[in-house]
Amino acid sequence: MSMVSPTSKHSPAHQRWTLDDIPWHAIRRAEVADQELLFYLVTTASFIETATDTYARNLIKYYSGDEEVTTWLEQHWQHEELQHGRALKRYVQAAWPTFDWDEIYRGFFAEFSAHCEVEALEPTRCLEMASRCIVEMGTSGYYTALGRFSPDAVLRLLAKCIREDEVRHYKYFFRYFLLYRERENTSRAQVFKAVWRRLRMIDGDDSRIALKHAYAIRHPGEPFDNRLYRKIQKRARYLLGAYFPHEMGVKMVLKPLHPGPRVQRLVQSVITALSRYLLWGEWRGILNIRSGACAGFYPRLRACILNQWTRFAH
Ligand SMILES: [Fe+2]
Ligand SMILES: [Fe+2]
Repeated sequence: MSMVSPTSKHSPAHQRWTLDDIPWHAIRRAEVADQELLFYLVTTASFIETATDTYARNLIKYYSGDEEVTTWLEQHWQHEELQHGRALKRYVQAAWPTFDWDEIYRGFFAEFSAHCEVEALEPTRCLEMASRCIVEMGTSGYYTALGRFSPDAVLRLLAKCIREDEVRHYKYFFRYFLLYRERENTSRAQVFKAVWRRLRMIDGDDSRIALKHAYAIRHPGEPFDNRLYRKIQKRARYLLGAYFPHEMGVKMVLKPLHPGPRVQRLVQSVITALSRYLLWGEWRGILNIRSGACAGFYPRLRACILNQWTRFAH
């Protein structure tokens, strides 16, 4: 990945794309109208991106005194995240016009803001930067998968624009992470713990609440419990897992841990295989392990690791 300069002249007025660059009139509604899972994926993303404001202020305050970081967060990162929300909202309104986005968002936000406390930040600025890298890794992968999966070219273009922003955000956060790691003398073990904490937070309450409100539109009056949430989430994982850029995602997770080249190759290879194995077709294996019925999981896992090891050894 090439490094970008956080001091470049890109202000909101110089943003890389705007809603005017998206050919909304070309949306092929017939292609997406009945795609319920796609509806959930786009709608929940639009809700969560739009709610960025709730934690952006907290993050900016956390870095007060560091003018370079706060300027970038305020003038670029926050602005771009909110634009993602507006663009996805517009897509939802155009593709599924019977869906009253504003009203449903109000319901989502009322519950989201009551149940989700402002995100707990990491104890040091360096670790928070590492944590932010993981968030941007997740969104980069999500929009890559969404774009690859989408049957509509307009959504593919939109997902590409957002994905490029998210990858660039990662690069900025990573650059600031390096600066703070030096300043705060942070150990690899500390970074590992922060990365792990953030990885465990993926698919948190915000996704569940967003999905609940989107689901209510498609199925008015039907209850939305945890079982149903897990069922839809499993389908989404299976689908996105098939299109997720596993190798890129693993590289982005490992980068703040700065392993040596040989360890990097080994770990990258094995974890990429595991990522495919766990997120994609083998999600059932995880569920089976939890329920105590893990027949077939370990032999397949072993075969998968051996396969990757053979590739690495050659
Ligand atoms: Fe975003
Ligand atoms: Fe981002």
